Amino acid sequence: MNTYSKKVAVEQFGKRSNAYAACGTLMDQADLDTVVGLLDLKGHETVLDVATGTGYLAMALAPHVNNVIGIDITPGMLELAVRAAREKGLDNIENLVGDVEHLPFCKPEFDVVSARFSFHHFPEPLKSLSEMAMVLQPGGRLVIEDMVSSEDITKSEYQNTMENLRDPSHIRHYRASDLEQMMHEAGFEVVDRVGGGSDFYLDHWLEMAEPPAGNVKTIREMMRDSMDGDLSGLNVRVEDGQIVFTYATDIVVGMKRRSD
Ligand SMILES: C[S@@+](CC[C@H](N)C(=O)[O-])C[C@H]1O[C@@H](n2cnc3c(N)ncnc32)[C@H](O)[C@@H]1O
Repeated sequence: MNTYSKKVAVEQFGKRSNAYAACGTLMDQADLDTVVGLLDLKGHETVLDVATGTGYLAMALAPHVNNVIGIDITPGMLELAVRAAREKGLDNIENLVGDVEHLPFCKPEFDVVSARFSFHHFPEPLKSLSEMAMVLQPGGRLVIEDMVSSEDITKSEYQNTMENLRDPSHIRHYRASDLEQMMHEAGFEVVDRVGGGSDFYLDHWLEMAEPPAGNVKTIREMMRDSMDGDLSGLNVRVEDGQIVFTYATDIVVGMKRRSD
């Protein structure tokens, strides 16, 4: 399941790299500024941005730190990241192909590790967290931003069922409480947390992942059914004739405990 999911992620993101590069949520400057602001950077930091994708967070961090290494499992996403950094004249970003569950660093050499809108793709979340902890210096900070599901387990399951139908590389949108618990287990003390939201048009969201037609039909039915009683926790609604929903997002900052 682990190797299979990763292969699917590479195929999925390889096919859709241009769509992800144009995704409004990923390029949202206010959101990127919030993540950068939470880290209170001094300029000397060495940063690892895991699952860097087309590099939006890496590029937002680069002017505020010494250097950023972006790592991603999909070469096609990294090609766009390399091009974008070059176009912006950012010469302190290095991009590497790699897997968050097997990071190619053998000592704690980073001050900050970040993972934005990617944690839900990692097949073994605790393994990825412990890898990120391993490469961080004691006292170093991990920032994870991701969609979170409703705390109601039935709604959480409903949402994740639709997500799996849409994107086979989706593993799970966790509840905020589960994410914090996993960070704690992996050796982090949660020191900051900012909640937010991001609206999506259903049609655009489906286009981004291109699921099979049969799955599209099921997802549309589930989204419509969800409106009555908010079964998915996504506040699905109709606005100007289009189905819209809202992802809840969380930015969580954890500090690597010094004793671990
Ligand atoms: C939505 S994109 C990330 C966006 C990016 N962090 C940003 O701020 O713009 C998700 C990324 O996760 C990457 N990914 C998925 N599984 C991975 C893994 N096991 N190791 C590293 N990268 C992975 C995908 O290749 C994809 O580029």
